[in-house]
Amino acid sequence: MTATVPAPAPGPAGTDAGRFQRDDWGSAFRNVGVELSEVPLTAARGAIPADLQGTLYRNGPGRLERGGHWVHHPFDGDGMITALRFDGGQVCLTNRFVRTEGYLAEEQAGRFLYRGVFGTQKPGGPLANAFDLRLKNIANTHVVRLGDQLLALWEAAEPHALDPDTLETRGISLLDGVLRKGDAFSAHPRFDPGHHGAPRMVTFGVKAGPRSTVRLMEFAVEDDPAAGVKAGQLLSERRDSFNGFAFLHDFAITPNWAVFLQNAIAFNPLPYVTGHKGAAQCLQSKPGGQAKFWLIPRDSGTFAGQPPRIVDAPDGFVFHHLNAWEDEAAVVVESIYYSDFPSIGPEQDFRAIDFDLLPEGLLEQCRIDLDAGTVRTTRLSERCCEFAMVNPAREGLPFRYAWMAVAERETGNDPLQAIKKLDLEQGERHVWSAAPRGFVSEPVMVPRPGASAEDDGWVLVPVWNGARCGSDLVILEAATMAEQAVLELPLAIPYGLHGSWDQA
Ligand code: CO
Repeated sequence: MTATVPAPAPGPAGTDAGRFQRDDWGSAFRNVGVELSEVPLTAARGAIPADLQGTLYRNGPGRLERGGHWVHHPFDGDGMITALRFDGGQVCLTNRFVRTEGYLAEEQAGRFLYRGVFGTQKPGGPLANAFDLRLKNIANTHVVRLGDQLLALWEAAEPHALDPDTLETRGISLLDGVLRKGDAFSAHPRFDPGHHGAPRMVTFGVKAGPRSTVRLMEFAVEDDPAAGVKAGQLLSERRDSFNGFAFLHDFAITPNWAVFLQNAIAFNPLPYVTGHKGAAQCLQSKPGGQAKFWLIPRDSGTFAGQPPRIVDAPDGFVFHHLNAWEDEAAVVVESIYYSDFPSIGPEQDFRAIDFDLLPEGLLEQCRIDLDAGTVRTTRLSERCCEFAMVNPAREGLPFRYAWMAVAERETGNDPLQAIKKLDLEQGERHVWSAAPRGFVSEPVMVPRPGASAEDDGWVLVPVWNGARCGSDLVILEAATMAEQAVLELPLAIPYGLHGSWDQA
C-alpha cells in the first residue's frame, strides 16, 4: 500500500518563508488620488507627545501611472508633499502635489508627455523618444524650509517654492537671483547647526561633463537684523572644477570642509539621446575607475580660500552619507556603500525586482588622513540599511548615535522594514520593526526641546502598512526605539524619498 503525500501547498506569489510578502511590498506602488487640507488625526495606538511641536514635511513620488502607462522607475513619479503639523498632542495632515509645469501639462493631457531620468518613456517607443532631451522637473526628492519658503527639491533643476502652511505651489524659485534658469540645485542640503555661530544651510549644484563644476553655497536660516541678514539669504559661495563626470547625489559637512564622494562611474549618453534609455540608466560603474573624495574648504572655516583636497576613495557606490566630522588627525565620513551601482535596465519591471540580485547598502566609516592622503575604512554594521541620520545638533560634529532604516533580516538585501538605533561608542543597537507586513521610509530624528542627551527625542517613521494598504506614521522614543504612537493616515502614500522637521 502506498500513501500519497501531497505536495506542499504553494504559498502566495513571492512568499519566502519568514520573509516579507511581495504583494504587501508591491501594494504601495499606486497613485495618490486625493489632496487633503488640515485633516485632524488621532492616534490609533499610544499617545502623541505633547512636547512634539512642529511640522514633519515629506516628499516622494505620488503619481506612478498615467493613461495605463507606468513609470519605469518610481523615482520618475511627480513630487507630492505631505505635511503633518504637531501641536500640543494634536496633529493635522495636509498633502499637495507640486504644481510643476510637467505635472500640470500631463494632468491635462492624461498621459506622459515627458521622458523620465530613470527610464520612463513617452508612449511610442524609441522613435517617439529619440532626441527629446527636455527634462521634466518633478520636484520629488526632498522638502526643506528656508526662510518663508518651503522648497521642493529635485537635484537636476531649480527648486519649487511652496507655501509652508497650505502647500500651494508658488512656482520655480531662483532664490532671489542666486540661481539662473535651468541651474541644478542639490536635493541634499545639510544644516550646519552653528559651527561658527549662526546656523546655516549648506548645499551645492553640479554642472557635469568631462570636467565637472561644483558650486558650494551657504545660506542663512535665521534672520540676524544686527548683521542685516535675512533667512534665505546667500552668505557665501565658491566654484571648483574637477576632472570627470560628477555624479553627486549627497555630500557631508564638517566645520571646515564640504565632503564629496565622486563614485567611479561612467556616463554614456548615447542610449538616452537615441530614446532607448533614461539618462540615469546610462550611468555605469567604470571598470578600473578610481573613486575620489573631493574636500572643498568652507568659507567659514580655517582653510577658506584654499584649493580643494583630492584623495583616492575605496571601491563601491554611495548615494547617501550619514555624517562627517573632524579630529586632529583626520576628516571622518560615514556613508552607505553598495558594491555596485544598482540600476533597473530598460527591459525590467521595477515591481518585479529580485532583491537577492541587488547589492545591499552597508554602513562604512572612512577616516581620511589629509596629510598622508590615505583612507582607512571600517564597516560599522552588517545589516542592509539606507536613510541614516544623526541628531541634527551633531551634524558635522563627532556623534554617538545614528538612526537608520534597515532590512528585517541581519544580512542580505531586502526591502527596508525596521528602524535601527546604533550606538557607535558601545556598539549597542535597538531595533523597532514593522515586519512582516510593514515597510519603512526614511526616519527623521527630532530632538526633544531643551534635551541635553544626544538620544533624547523621537524618531518619526512613515510606514507602508501592507495589512490595510495605507500609510501610517509611527512615533518612536529615540533612546529606546519604543513605540510611542501610531497614526493611521487617511492617505495611501507610495514609498517616499526624503523629509525634514521644521521646529515650531
Ligand atoms: Co537622497
